[in-house]
Amino acid sequence: MKEVILDLRNELRGKLSPQRYEHTISVSFICTALAMRYGSDLYHAELAGLLHDCAKHLGDGEIIKKCQKQGIQLTDDERKAPAVLHAKYGAWLAQYKYGIEEDEVINAIRWHTTGRPEMSILEKIVFVADYIEPRRDKAAGLSVVRSIAFKDLDECIYLILKNTLDYLKGKNCFVDSMSLEAYAYYEQIHKEMKGEQ
Ligand SMILES: [Fe+2]
Ligand SMILES: [Fe+2]
Repeated sequence: MKEVILDLRNELRGKLSPQRYEHTISVSFICTALAMRYGSDLYHAELAGLLHDCAKHLGDGEIIKKCQKQGIQLTDDERKAPAVLHAKYGAWLAQYKYGIEEDEVINAIRWHTTGRPEMSILEKIVFVADYIEPRRDKAAGLSVVRSIAFKDLDECIYLILKNTLDYLKGKNCFVDSMSLEAYAYYEQIHKEMKGEQ
């Protein structure tokens, strides 16, 4: 095993709650499994999975302050629903605190909360792994999403975004416009696959 992975695990174990650390390890292994299935780099997948929630232990207000301090621009949507911001600040931490140089790893961390149109394979892998990892038991439609994750990544992302948006709308929560853009993009792929358009 690469030293970097062990060092990161030790660092994160000291920072994250036991539940969040367990989730982190679980996501990193599902990332490697999906990387095996879809022919992506296993090391990058494990690294991105390990670091995807590296800023999650910080409160929303704390993250906003840290972003301001580092000159990280925030969108109006991110200020309205700062829960997604741990992805943006986590990507910054991965690059500047943990020394990650690979753009594809940094971007996979960056987009793991909202998704975005035209995600790279690694961005898709982390987005999906975060939703399906085996410790999860509350997300909507988990068994169906899990069954599709290893068959069709784009269809899986469509379902995750659909379930997540339905859940947020049902709770009258604000939805980041990037999630809506991502949903529109993957819904179009879904319709084309079904021959609807
Ligand atoms: Fe997260
Ligand atoms: Fe996560």
